[in-house]
Amino acid sequence: MILKLSIWRDVEEYLARRNDVVIPVGSTEQHGPSGPLGTDLIAAEEAAAGLGEERLCAVAPTIPFGTSQLHSAFPGTISLRPMTMIAVVRDVIASLHRQGFRRFLLVNAHPESAGVLEAAVQQSQGDLDGVRCLLFNWWEAPEVKATMLELFGAREGQHATPGELSLVRKFYPRGVLDLPPMERFEPVAAPARWAPADMRTRYPDGNIGSDPSLASGASGDRLFVVLQRALVAAHRRLVEEP
Ligand code: NI
Repeated sequence: MILKLSIWRDVEEYLARRNDVVIPVGSTEQHGPSGPLGTDLIAAEEAAAGLGEERLCAVAPTIPFGTSQLHSAFPGTISLRPMTMIAVVRDVIASLHRQGFRRFLLVNAHPESAGVLEAAVQQSQGDLDGVRCLLFNWWEAPEVKATMLELFGAREGQHATPGELSLVRKFYPRGVLDLPPMERFEPVAAPARWAPADMRTRYPDGNIGSDPSLASGASGDRLFVVLQRALVAAHRRLVEEP
């Protein structure tokens, strides 16, 4: 049940039977020389929609912003401050809690938001009676990691990765530009805590240690199957645990 397409009576009827809801969380930030700004937003939204179909669960509209300060020197990037983001997520949960929702699955597609979302979960669970949250960072599920390693090896990298861009291609085949094959690939260590200007100087194209030219719809199909399996398992854990 996609909330943006539902009428309120559908939601009331749903709440008479169950109290779980999925909240997709994306970002609006640069994704290298070929990926759209909405890469994370699309990944979170499509993964959550797939889960909604599979488990017939309520899916809230996607939160389109994350903490993207690192990328803010690239035009089009929009960030929430961590404190704002905690408040937004907490208010979304509190609104739904007031009507009877109790179990919240946050499907996150943006690594830099993970810590902030964990804080929002702590705050919500502390403030709101009976709230149970599970934070699902899609790229961290073991079976997803294994598939990305098999598909792309070290070229998966850290930002504007072929994995996330393949997911976008699955749903928006023309949403990711074609790039010529990368002639020289050099893996890089995880970025230190740079200021936005450093990020743009060090990685003028916007990708970090990845080979975005490997993104393909076929890889997106494979990844999505594995991702859905992991998400279904996470959702089961959330709703079936007493
Ligand atoms: Ni991303």
